[in-house]
Amino acid sequence: MKNDFIWGTATSAHQIEGAWLEDGKGMNIWDAFSHTPGKIANEDHSETACDHYHLYETDIAHMKALGVNGYRFSIAWSRVIPDGKGKVNPQGIDFYNRLIDSLLAADITPFITLYHWDLPLTLQMENDGWLSEVTADAFARYARICFEAFGDRVQHWITFNENWCTAVIGNGQGNFAPGRISEDEPYIVAHNLLLAHGKAVQNFRRGDFAGQIGIANNCDWREPFTDSDEDRAAAQEALEFFFGWFTDPVIFGDYPAIMRERLGDRLPRFSPEQSEMLKGSSDFLGLNHYTTHYASREAVVPDQIKADVGNGGDQDDQQVYLHHDPEWPRTSMGWFVVPWGFRKLLNWIKARYGDIPIYVTENGCSVAADSKEEAVDDQFRADFIEGYTHALTQAVEEDGVTVKGYFCWTLMDNFEWTRGYNMRFGLMYCDFETLERTPKASFHRYAEIIRTQQASSTES
Ligand code: NOJ
Repeated sequence: MKNDFIWGTATSAHQIEGAWLEDGKGMNIWDAFSHTPGKIANEDHSETACDHYHLYETDIAHMKALGVNGYRFSIAWSRVIPDGKGKVNPQGIDFYNRLIDSLLAADITPFITLYHWDLPLTLQMENDGWLSEVTADAFARYARICFEAFGDRVQHWITFNENWCTAVIGNGQGNFAPGRISEDEPYIVAHNLLLAHGKAVQNFRRGDFAGQIGIANNCDWREPFTDSDEDRAAAQEALEFFFGWFTDPVIFGDYPAIMRERLGDRLPRFSPEQSEMLKGSSDFLGLNHYTTHYASREAVVPDQIKADVGNGGDQDDQQVYLHHDPEWPRTSMGWFVVPWGFRKLLNWIKARYGDIPIYVTENGCSVAADSKEEAVDDQFRADFIEGYTHALTQAVEEDGVTVKGYFCWTLMDNFEWTRGYNMRFGLMYCDFETLERTPKASFHRYAEIIRTQQASSTES
């Protein structure tokens, strides 16, 4: 890898910060959702989480020991603007200033995500959240406020994290905040999220800010179940409905043709001006990648239900069935470990979008453990990271894909949304009673991978 390659780790505000009502922070949709009985495993919530708000210096010291040269974190919109649209909270700005300054002092490059699912609650209550373009305008203003506050020191910006999840899981299946259930609303929500991205990028580019701005979209790999034309089309279309839905507009200015063909008027349309605004609105592509499935056009087991596996919800629209190989190892989230799928996906992105730089903004796995001793001995995760970073180096060095960074999800065990604190994704064990962090075996293995890669890095 080149010597400016970013080896990093990633987190998000709502999953680690805690301090949910401290220093003027407003409530967000996940604060409300997780205090609604029955929504989160064990009725967990994120009032304290890892208390990173108070312990960020400890966390940066751990990152320094890990050897990363990049850290991706998100800003809590309702910490900076408590109701999402009105007055700025100076204490919120102060916190992120302290965090950024401490990262820079440790030679760690900050990558900021502006939106990692924690919409200020007021915007949900007053405007139905992302169902309204009013929310997109509020986001563009919030983004500008962040560029102005932090842009003198931060040069890597990510507008949105995994809009697919906000649209499908949050506003289609109802399993994530705000908990809406609908077949049509995911497409409207997605549309407004994309407009919000475009408007924020416009603000960035019109201002005098140095650096780059992009979006982090999630995608699993879809491998044709057989070599038939039908299965190959099913896999391709599944990728277009997944990654293409949120990436085609920011590169080409419109949705994939297959989506229009299948969805007709259920898919909103961009005006010529909006399309122009969106086209080329990502300086780089962020990719969050976790797993792989086979895809087929027809069911291969009797009575198979499309939404049973993988990315349900919009699978009927995709006309695809998903399958797996029973030999594939599984994480405790039930996700399959298939490093070659990662390499193929990176190649697919290059083939579809050209040589735009890619950052792998997330990749990692959950490992179940009944005790701290078991949790820190996470050979499974260490092997996972080794397998996936190896596939990454093959994609870069052998296939010529332009990847500029890799962020392991995640620095420490944290609030895993609907799954609460049960699903541990961290390189460090977090004791949620004492808040003590303990590096796991995977922390040491990742540190070794980084050291080896940096030692053999080439000049660009
Ligand atoms: C994607 C999300 O961005 C992150 O918040 C989540 O914790 C991980 N995947 C693991 O599910």
